[in-house]
Amino acid sequence: MDFKEHIIEKLTELTGLQTADVAKAVETPPDEKLGDLAFPCFPLARVLRKAPPLIAKELAAQLSSDELICRVDAVGGYLNFFYNRAAFIENTVKAARSAGEDWGRSDIGKGRTVLVEYSSPNIAKPFHIGHLFSTAVGNSLAKIYKFLGYNVLSLNHLGDWGTQFGKLISAYKRWGDRELIEKDPINELLKIYVRFHEEAETQPELEDEAREYFKKLEDGDGETTALWKYFKDLSLVEFKRVYDMLGVEFDSYNGEAFYSDKMDEVVELLRAKGLLVESDGAQVVDLSDLNIPPCIILKSDGATIYATRDIAAALYRHRTYNFDKNIYVVGLPQALHFRQIFEVMKRAGWEWSKGCEYVGFGLVKLPGKAMSTRHGDVVFLEDVLNESIEKTKEIIINNGSSVDDIDDVSKKIGIGAILYTFLKNSREKDIVFSWDTMLDFDGDSAPYCMYGYARGRSILRKAGDIDYSNADLSLAVSDDAYTLVKLLNGFGGAVTDAAERNEPFYVNRYVTNLVKAFNKFYNTNPIMKSGVDEETKKARLAIVDAVCTVIKSALALLGISVVESM
Ligand code: ARG
Repeated sequence: MDFKEHIIEKLTELTGLQTADVAKAVETPPDEKLGDLAFPCFPLARVLRKAPPLIAKELAAQLSSDELICRVDAVGGYLNFFYNRAAFIENTVKAARSAGEDWGRSDIGKGRTVLVEYSSPNIAKPFHIGHLFSTAVGNSLAKIYKFLGYNVLSLNHLGDWGTQFGKLISAYKRWGDRELIEKDPINELLKIYVRFHEEAETQPELEDEAREYFKKLEDGDGETTALWKYFKDLSLVEFKRVYDMLGVEFDSYNGEAFYSDKMDEVVELLRAKGLLVESDGAQVVDLSDLNIPPCIILKSDGATIYATRDIAAALYRHRTYNFDKNIYVVGLPQALHFRQIFEVMKRAGWEWSKGCEYVGFGLVKLPGKAMSTRHGDVVFLEDVLNESIEKTKEIIINNGSSVDDIDDVSKKIGIGAILYTFLKNSREKDIVFSWDTMLDFDGDSAPYCMYGYARGRSILRKAGDIDYSNADLSLAVSDDAYTLVKLLNGFGGAVTDAAERNEPFYVNRYVTNLVKAFNKFYNTNPIMKSGVDEETKKARLAIVDAVCTVIKSALALLGISVVESM
């Protein structure tokens, strides 16, 4: 029996209120000393025509302790419940251990489809740190929704279409060197693309040439299409290397190009709804009543643009997946773009477009020299990941630790440290990238959480074959054990909070607090030290075991892997 539910049931019986209303009213007291659950009597005052403190007092007198509740206090207008700690620890740890990796999971999403679109880099351009932010948040959200039973698909909306590809083809034809490109594709392609812009300043005819190439590409011309595909394939190899390092996988790589032949229909649908108006030769949807710029659907030269491709993509996704939610994890500079396209879809009368959600995130500030720039001015993500792994390795060596597979351990910690940084705060906050914070083994960081796990596992290893499966958990009661087990109990809640707000940081904060409480617990509740009574040892080991499983599950939801020792 869940303690909270038990109390809600009792209160419902006693007050005659609806269960749902009681459930909404109960809250966690700000200080654990005040109790484990509080019921504010203020809303009852109107119905009963009595002062809340009096109501609290009368209710307290009618509530007797039982096997789950040990005390009920009336304080001001509140009823404060204290759980029976031994029963709480016993129930929670047993339930968590028997659920194992399923602890915290639910099936609230059963039968519902969530699409999470994230990462979406642009081909022939560097995969930059903003795309990494999107990748970290999107990957975590996809895992969180899966954990809650949703049918989840991860989509990568590659930036692989648009007039810039006409420029790239023109640049390649003029200065492209296949050998150099194949050695370092993105860097070389970027170089010739930048050169195109430089030279076009004095030779405007280059722009016309580029426009022609893009037109050819749109018309499906063989040679230009082959070149475009060549650039795309080279870029994908690079991107996939990064995704492999991060352990990220996509169900679809349908990018902007995929929708290039699906846009006429969109234009026709919007026209038929009477939404298109002419503006300087372009076809736009006027949104001036919302005080935002119009959404451009067709440019004056008849070419479609980013927004049109996005609308076509949403329609395609609706038809293909019949989604309940279609989430876009894209940086805040594009917030307006999403507002515009969502509004256009709404005006088109597409009911399903209500399921489209924009999930924005802030900027990443890179402190100047701190990043290696093997590639000139641009910070390449792969370099950042490798640098993190290298730095981690140094720290491990300097700490004098002797792990078996230092390369694997450094990789997991180094990558975990980066992912953690992106998921540490509410996503709309800007991030300042700092190695010191990221790799601070004692601070709020991935290494800190991973160390907590490794520490727990080492305790369990030391315990060898001690059988704690039937431990008497009442022997483990202590303030620190209680705080820890309460956190253990809160895992599922943290995951649902994260999904509700599309904020993985709820899980991040949860696991960090869990590890903090765990550190405190094993410092004040010795486990494998001599002198600890055998039965108490077993009870504490059972807690360690349950906590390790949850640290691992929670970190996995952030995309972070654990290591057994570090
Ligand atoms: N490729 C874009 C960029 O790098 C992001 C794409 C975002 N997704 C979308 N459906 N528009 O800025």
